[in-house]
Amino acid sequence: MKAVEVKKGIYWVGSVDWDLRNFHGYLTQRGSSYNAYLILDEKVTLIDNVKSHLAEDLIARISDIIDPAKIDYIVQNHIEMDHSGSLPALVERCPNAELFASPKGVEGIEKQYGITRKTTAVKSGDTLALGKRTLHFVQTPMVHWPDNMVSYCPEEKILFSNDAFGQHIASSERFDDEYSLGITMLEAAKYYANIVLPYSAQVQKALAVAETLDISIICPSHGLIWRTHIPEIMAAYRKWSANTTDRKALIIYDTMWKSTEMLAVAVKNAFERKGYSIQLINLQKNHISDIMTDILTASHICIGSPTLNNNILPTVAAFLTYLTGLAPRGRTGMAFGSYGWSGQSVGMVEESLKKCGFDMLEQVRIQYIPDEQTLLSVTKQVEDQI
Ligand code: FEO
Repeated sequence: MKAVEVKKGIYWVGSVDWDLRNFHGYLTQRGSSYNAYLILDEKVTLIDNVKSHLAEDLIARISDIIDPAKIDYIVQNHIEMDHSGSLPALVERCPNAELFASPKGVEGIEKQYGITRKTTAVKSGDTLALGKRTLHFVQTPMVHWPDNMVSYCPEEKILFSNDAFGQHIASSERFDDEYSLGITMLEAAKYYANIVLPYSAQVQKALAVAETLDISIICPSHGLIWRTHIPEIMAAYRKWSANTTDRKALIIYDTMWKSTEMLAVAVKNAFERKGYSIQLINLQKNHISDIMTDILTASHICIGSPTLNNNILPTVAAFLTYLTGLAPRGRTGMAFGSYGWSGQSVGMVEESLKKCGFDMLEQVRIQYIPDEQTLLSVTKQVEDQI
């Protein structure tokens, strides 16, 4: 794949990772890309780079346009290794390049790679003159690490947004209007739910800054470049970062002898009767990172586990660990489950959901196999609360 011109003199020179299927626990069924951008100006500038195993691919793509030794500036918007892993190789191949990153970025580059040469820390409000163009830096800490920043080029109206607005998609297409918008938005939602969600307050601050900028292209560090559907992705980020939900209930469970599954169906029936959109999600058949995508817009999260060895099932424990780490807010939760004798599981699930700060519906805790009358009363109990 050749370099792709984003705008006259500005090229995508990143790498497509067709094989990626797991990004620290997040299933990436469509692979990903690590986007780097080359700006030809009086000062030749490279923004971000790619994972270390793709360094030669990046360098070959840059070489299609210009001798990498002619790069004057390397801007590192974020130092996570998917965007900085090729920095050691670049420093060798670009002997004159000066490096720019946020103060935390500069610190991380030294700690991760031992690179201190020609490195300058930049903060919000700082600018870098490239010639005809300028880069304006805005720090966006915790979107996604403390070092994150974005770079805005007012002359081209381009925002180089790094992780923000990204999607894990491997494709030969580079622009949002060349690829299915439905899939792009779904993958952007999955990316937000699994990577960005804990930092929604910081996203809102970054959005407030972005809304003051005149933007015609958003160049993220993963997936498609936004040039046509910017209003849609901006509206989605406003909704997701505000924890605004739809009238949607997720009933998420695992089961040993089907009793908890029967309760899950009874809970589902209550939401159906009240006209909610519902999803019945068996943890044995669904990946936690896909469930998180659905949680992004769900108003009610009901989680069921039977008791096993005075505890919850391992699948439920793994999901709750993931959920509490990603810290969605403003939802209503509910715990349910069956038990034989000790029955601790429902209380344990409830405690985890309370840690998320959810409002709670009354728990459902049933011994042995629920009969038809019990299931009807579970449905009524839930229905009466929603
Ligand atoms: Fe795509 Fe936080 O790295």
